[in-house]
Amino acid sequence: MSRIAGLRCRICAAEVPTGPSFVCARCFGPLEVAYDYGVIGAMLSREVIAARPAGIWRYLELLPVEAPPARGLAVGSTPLVAAERLGELLGIERLWLKNDSVNPTLSFKDRVVAVAVARAVEFGFDTLACASTGNLAGAVAAAAAAVGLPAYVFVPADIEPAKIRQALAFGARLVPVEGTYDQINRLSLEVADELGWAFVNVNLRPYYAEGSKSLAYEVAEQLGWRLPDAVVVPIASGSLFTKIARGFGELVDLGLVGAKPVRFIGGQPEGCAPVAAAYAGGGEEIRPVRSPDTLVKSLAIGDPADGRFAVRLARESGGSIESVSDAATVAALRAVAEREGIFTETAGGCTVAALAQARANGVIRPGEEVVAFLTGNGLKTPEAVASPEVEALFDGEGIAATARIPARFGAFEAWLAAASEDEAGASGQLPDLRDAAPVPS
Ligand SMILES: Cc1ncc(COP(=O)(O)O)c(C=O)c1O
Ligand SMILES: [Zn+2]
Repeated sequence: MSRIAGLRCRICAAEVPTGPSFVCARCFGPLEVAYDYGVIGAMLSREVIAARPAGIWRYLELLPVEAPPARGLAVGSTPLVAAERLGELLGIERLWLKNDSVNPTLSFKDRVVAVAVARAVEFGFDTLACASTGNLAGAVAAAAAAVGLPAYVFVPADIEPAKIRQALAFGARLVPVEGTYDQINRLSLEVADELGWAFVNVNLRPYYAEGSKSLAYEVAEQLGWRLPDAVVVPIASGSLFTKIARGFGELVDLGLVGAKPVRFIGGQPEGCAPVAAAYAGGGEEIRPVRSPDTLVKSLAIGDPADGRFAVRLARESGGSIESVSDAATVAALRAVAEREGIFTETAGGCTVAALAQARANGVIRPGEEVVAFLTGNGLKTPEAVASPEVEALFDGEGIAATARIPARFGAFEAWLAAASEDEAGASGQLPDLRDAAPVPS
């Protein structure tokens, strides 16, 4: 008996055999992978998992590939960090940061791509591709290099240069498109159909999306096989958000963790917040944002595929979906760096700002245990921490000659005195985050 039962429509529950399909022929709803949990339950235990090497394949039975791939990057088993200093700032005593910014290409997208690419290889595809808001491009490019397949990454022209350089370094073909992510997504559907390429997040989406569940499994295992009270997750398409819930649900159903309600809190940037708007409006209907306008480019999906499911999850779990200003995102990103030594990208800033808001508005209550997901690395979005003072340090050759000191102790002493004076003049380290989201006492 196979543990992978096939694909099932998320709207009408019609069943389809395992294959590279992604829409329901009956109702055009999205397909997802269906498993036989009876078979999985007989194979999987805490002990079986504990005996396996680090990485996402330690949860193989709950992922939609037949066998761990022979080739691929070392993805997953990222740190769960006890964030005491950040928690103190936010009024959250038991705060954990799932630091997924240390995956091979520095974002959680390595997880979804590892699963999609393993499946694409099993299906016999010869070309990999994706429609990306930035991070997916690097993840697909690197995974393609590791398995030895060509990759085409389609990106909006305004994504961060560091993400473009990273994808190019792996030898991917970059397809810069004049248009938004949503327009690129439609183009990708056509290319996938015409050329038969494996677009990891389009025609392989049911498999791709399952990779996000590995975050839920890791968090539960790292907490000693239990679930937190609340999670805070960034939302672009809404897939990560809903798949973490599915992952927790599976662990409960399999008896690997005790049943417990977990509140799901999502973060979206104000300049592209269709899911937060639907949540605030009380309905489930997503009104697409035609022209996203935010610093948080990785979350700039105006017409999110899983938007409805995300709204429902936030509401039914007693969570929320927070709309976050770019200023609050930057303040939060700085707070995480200065208080925890983790440099996260703008999506992580948005998540921690959503966490601060949810604590301030009472969705997160005193004493609760919370896990926030930092899904990308700050080196990918250095623009977020640019300031006139930082930029003034550089000229074309590196640090500007006028900013340097001679290699003499006396010169350093003078520099130290001036620096201390500057610091005394600055008013505290983190005023912005507290202003953006006052914590009730
Ligand atoms: C860093 C980062 N975090 C979170 C997300 C959200 O992913 P999803 O589309 O599954 O909501 C993305 C999507 O591109 C991302 O790049
Ligand atoms: Zn259907």
